[in-house]
Amino acid sequence: KSPDNGKVTWKAPSNIALVKYWGKKPVQIPANPSISFTLDTCATTTSVLFEKKDNNETLSFDLLFEGKPKDHFKPKIQAFLERVETYLPFLKEYHFTIETSNSFPHSSGIASSASGMAALSLCLMDIEKELNPSLDEDLFNSKASYLARLGSGSACRSVKGSLVQWGRHSNIPKSSDLYGIEYPFEVDPVFKSYCDTILLVHKGQKQVSSTVGHQLMHGHPYAEDRFEQAFSNLDKLKPILANGDLEEFIKMVESEALTLHAMMMTSMPYFMLMKPDTLKIINKIWQYREATKTPVCFTLDAGANVHLLYPSSNKEKVQIFIKDELVGHCENGQYIHDQVGSGAIKI
Ligand code: PMV
Repeated sequence: KSPDNGKVTWKAPSNIALVKYWGKKPVQIPANPSISFTLDTCATTTSVLFEKKDNNETLSFDLLFEGKPKDHFKPKIQAFLERVETYLPFLKEYHFTIETSNSFPHSSGIASSASGMAALSLCLMDIEKELNPSLDEDLFNSKASYLARLGSGSACRSVKGSLVQWGRHSNIPKSSDLYGIEYPFEVDPVFKSYCDTILLVHKGQKQVSSTVGHQLMHGHPYAEDRFEQAFSNLDKLKPILANGDLEEFIKMVESEALTLHAMMMTSMPYFMLMKPDTLKIINKIWQYREATKTPVCFTLDAGANVHLLYPSSNKEKVQIFIKDELVGHCENGQYIHDQVGSGAIKI
């Protein structure tokens, strides 16, 4: 017998890609494989209260964001629930109250779609598990990742830690276009505690959403070469991660970030998400690396913020560099110290 009501809560982290996903086929199938660090501090906590309702003909839910009704997020959640309904047949039997909050400041320019969709998917899977207690852990996690992917592609990499790979690649056993997997190869311990300081350069609305950006890879003059490059970068990353080769790691990660933005600048219509302070920060990172030989590097998401990546053994001196040189380029001096984490948790 299914429960009449209950409540489940999950906290899911954000993630930052090292090899980027940019370009997709229907439905949410990546044009190329990607890999990301799962973060720790930047996370979304979501509770789902569920209550049996009389009719089971329509989807029914309320949405609270940081304690307050948030109606303008509702269409996105509605579309997501409609998309996942075939995989979760119980959805129409209940009324849901979805309460969600982020650990990072509201409208900081940090995308909450990855952590948010992962947290919601895990909550829904938890309800599924109450109905079907024999569901094993691996299936639970891969189905949660599968559902999260249908909400936002990169969200499928926010269920597990510390390195998650998504997208079928013939040299990566068990890799799939449908869900993320924990990176199956040896990884040097340096990468298990890597630091990521997120420098918040611009908090305003993005000029182009990632949905539109992905679409612009259709018919893009460099798309096929870019997709091939991502496949080959995953091959090249394997010995880099195994050996802790920071010099090669830095080259790969920075080149991936700039290639992502180069794709945006060379699509039609073209667009640019970097801001003057993004470039100033990148130059300062390069100067600091050159002058001090400290293995710091940057990566970028589909936005102006800069993720500064460095081994935890360099934490003290890099954080001084951030305060002295980089904070002045952040909007309202805002930044967030984060690090590689170990995946979502049930609360
Ligand atoms: O998950 P989406 O559809 O918002 O795409 C985001 C893609 C990038 O963040 C730019 C790269 C990545 O792999 O995370």
